[in-house]
Amino acid sequence: MRFTLNDNSVDVAAHPMKRLLDVLREECELTGTKEGCGEGECGACTVLVNGVLVVSCLVPFAQVEGASVKTIEGLGNDHALQHHFMNEAGAQCGICTPGMIVVASTLPVDATLDEIRVALAGNLCRCTGYEAIYRAIQKAQQPQ
Ligand code: FES
Ligand code: FES
Repeated sequence: MRFTLNDNSVDVAAHPMKRLLDVLREECELTGTKEGCGEGECGACTVLVNGVLVVSCLVPFAQVEGASVKTIEGLGNDHALQHHFMNEAGAQCGICTPGMIVVASTLPVDATLDEIRVALAGNLCRCTGYEAIYRAIQKAQQPQ
């Protein structure tokens, strides 16, 4: 099945009802996208499909035919959010981190703390207490 993955056209063979999360991790070997709950509750598996945030554990592979999918790998290895999550201890076990960063990458640079909190309301973290995550996002918004 053809779709666009991180700006590259790809043709991936997998069962149409396989979870997009599993296709990304197994067939596409992009293990940055994590599984937390597997039930659409935690946001760890969040990716962008046609620019819309989705939890990939609830998306059948068939639904992305012809679509554009962006994962944490699609942000590159040198994104300000990644640096600030490391510097501010916004990541501990790291399971929630790719989903947090994918969501944060969609925020406007002038997003307020309240807007950041609302945007991340569907992303659960069991480790950090959230303050370090919000701080990392706010620092990434500042001019480098
Ligand atoms: S693993 Fe998909 S929402 Fe938790
Ligand atoms: S860093 Fe462990 S769940 Fe967020």
